[in-house]
Amino acid sequence: MNAKPYIPISRPSISEAEKAAVLAVLDSGFLAQGPRTAEFEACFARLCEVEHAIAVSSGTTALHLALLAHEIGPGDEVITTPFTFIATANAILFTGARPVFVDIEEETCNLDPQLVEAAITPRTKAILPVHLYGQTCDMDALQAIAQRHGLVIIEDACQAVMASYRDRPAGSFGTGVFSFYATKNLTTGEGGMITTNDTHIAERCRMLRSHGMKRRYYHEFLGYNFRMTDIQAAIGLVQLEKLEELTAQRRANAAYLTAHIHSLITPQCREGYGHAWHQYTVRVNGRRDRDEVAQHLKEAAIDTGVYYPVPVHRQRSMAEAAGEAVLPVAERLAGQVLSLPVHPQLNAEELEYIVAEVNKL
Ligand SMILES: Cc1ncc(COP(=O)(O)O)c(C=O)c1O
Repeated sequence: MNAKPYIPISRPSISEAEKAAVLAVLDSGFLAQGPRTAEFEACFARLCEVEHAIAVSSGTTALHLALLAHEIGPGDEVITTPFTFIATANAILFTGARPVFVDIEEETCNLDPQLVEAAITPRTKAILPVHLYGQTCDMDALQAIAQRHGLVIIEDACQAVMASYRDRPAGSFGTGVFSFYATKNLTTGEGGMITTNDTHIAERCRMLRSHGMKRRYYHEFLGYNFRMTDIQAAIGLVQLEKLEELTAQRRANAAYLTAHIHSLITPQCREGYGHAWHQYTVRVNGRRDRDEVAQHLKEAAIDTGVYYPVPVHRQRSMAEAAGEAVLPVAERLAGQVLSLPVHPQLNAEELEYIVAEVNKL
């Protein structure tokens, strides 16, 4: 019997164009942050319909700088979701502020706006929603709360490049943060971006990423080296050119899976939300059943992912910050979610095979 071809959960779309772009940078002699980075920033700002985009070394450093730019620090609280990659909460801790975890909506796995207001205290400075799996949070509801209480919104759009909410791009509702890690819809290997319409915040981010410096070797405040290289930016520029096509392919793949999978709970795309399908996440009733489904698919050479098996407030590293927080929806869904391959490299045969194997269950 032939070995089944392995279907990975993600596969970066890298072509000859990215390779040529990298070689051109190497030949140029300008390897660090330079002209390609500035061009990438300008193109990314246009994509997100914002005034400023600031390229940095990762999504994590983008989150860290966005929080610092808003002068969030010791004594402050930031409301966020427990159903995310740990970097979201770690960035809050890096600043000396405290993450306050609020439970999620069952339908979308995103921060539940109805629970946010009860978590606001005089120390609350910001709301940090995460557009998980590539679907934005309910931004009307969150913006209304932020306005009522004078809070800043920092969107963790690390999984949501090309996502939209009522025709507005993710990353344009407050200060936006993106990741270009290798598995993301747009990759530069490692990399990140901050988006904003606020000139002051943009300037602070630019200075913070480069040792608090505006004029060379004059340092206004404590900063970091969180710069992106032109090698990464050159890859990003090529990726941006094909992002629309890659996202359309993800959307078509997700539509196919939803139309054909009948054995599990398939993900919902809400009316008025432009889902970028970073992950296609089904739900299986219990943790044991979920793990059995994953095992069955593994034996069929289909890779799956659990994003995330332990909610952030239950992580050992977060014990001091999270205290005794009990967040029943996040805790239950952590035992139910399972992401299937949806990436744009899948062909029709692979999609059919995934559906056939999933429906055997
Ligand atoms: C929701 C979320 N936030 C933050 C990050 C951190 O991004 P990075 O890995 O580029 O530091 C990621 C990606 O890994 C993410 O998925």
